This record gives sequence, structure tokens and C-alpha cells, in this order.
Amino acid sequence: MAKLMLVVLGALVAMAAAKQFEKCELVRELRKQGFPESEMRDWVCLVEKESGFRTDAIGKLNGDGSWDHGLFQVNDRYWCTRDGPAGLECNLSCAALRTDDITAAATCVKKIFARHGFGGWTAWKAHCQGAKPDISKC
Ligand SMILES: *[C@@H]1O[C@H](CO)[C@@H](O)[C@H](O)[C@H]1NC(C)=O
Repeated sequence: MAKLMLVVLGALVAMAAAKQFEKCELVRELRKQGFPESEMRDWVCLVEKESGFRTDAIGKLNGDGSWDHGLFQVNDRYWCTRDGPAGLECNLSCAALRTDDITAAATCVKKIFARHGFGGWTAWKAHCQGAKPDISKC
């Protein structure tokens, strides 16, 4: 019984580990990670539309059989490994893109951005080219 309780408790702790950012909390974190102020509202919009601000988000199965991971919904066809050791373009396991510490994810998305700009993200193209979130109070 005690053992079962520990398992249940462990599961609850694991669930609680997933983080959902508040808007301004995300802005502060992105500033800390060195994202430029000129891109800030686009990143906040992108994160909101891609993952709902959740670090542990996994998207729907894509048409090509790939999945998207974490706050920035990074695709596992090119950027991270779904199974096995860290690899692909970001040299990361996709699980490393779903942690509450977003340092690795930030480095990875800067690489994606350098190559594709915001146009690399479907949700940004669909929702973030016009009105963007107000972060003037952050
Ligand atoms: C990839 O990351 C691992 C550590 O996870 C490191 O040992 C390896 O050198 C890295 N490979 C490249 C090509 O950067």
C-alpha cells in the first residue's frame, strides 16, 4: 500500500512538473535567454498559439508522421530525436525540449529562427503576422 502511494505521489509530482507560463513571466524568461526586444511580441504570440504557453506540449501528429515538442513546438523530423540519444540539427532529444528549463529549447529555436525566421512556424504564419500581444506592462 505504501509503495502504491509512492507511485501515485510520484505521478502527481511528475504532472506538476509541467509548467504553464503567464505572458509576462514568459517575456521575462525570454529576455533572460537573450531574445531581442524587437522580436519579443512575435515570440510571445508564437508560444501562445503553438503550445498555449506549456513547456510539456506535444502537438498533433503531423501529416509527414512527425511530432512537435514543447513551448515552441519544435519538429522532430529535423531538429530533435524522438527516441535514442540526442541528435539531429539541435543535437537534442525532444524530451529536452519539453522541460521547464527552457535554456536548451531557446538555443534550438534561435537556430531554427536563423534559418527560417518566424516563417518556420505554422502558427506564427497563421496568427501572428497582424495583431500581436500587448507586452507593454511586462
Ligand atoms: C551533441 O551533444 C552531446 C551531449 O549531449 C555531445 O557529447 C556531442 O558532442 C554533441 N554533438 C555535436 C555534433 O555537437
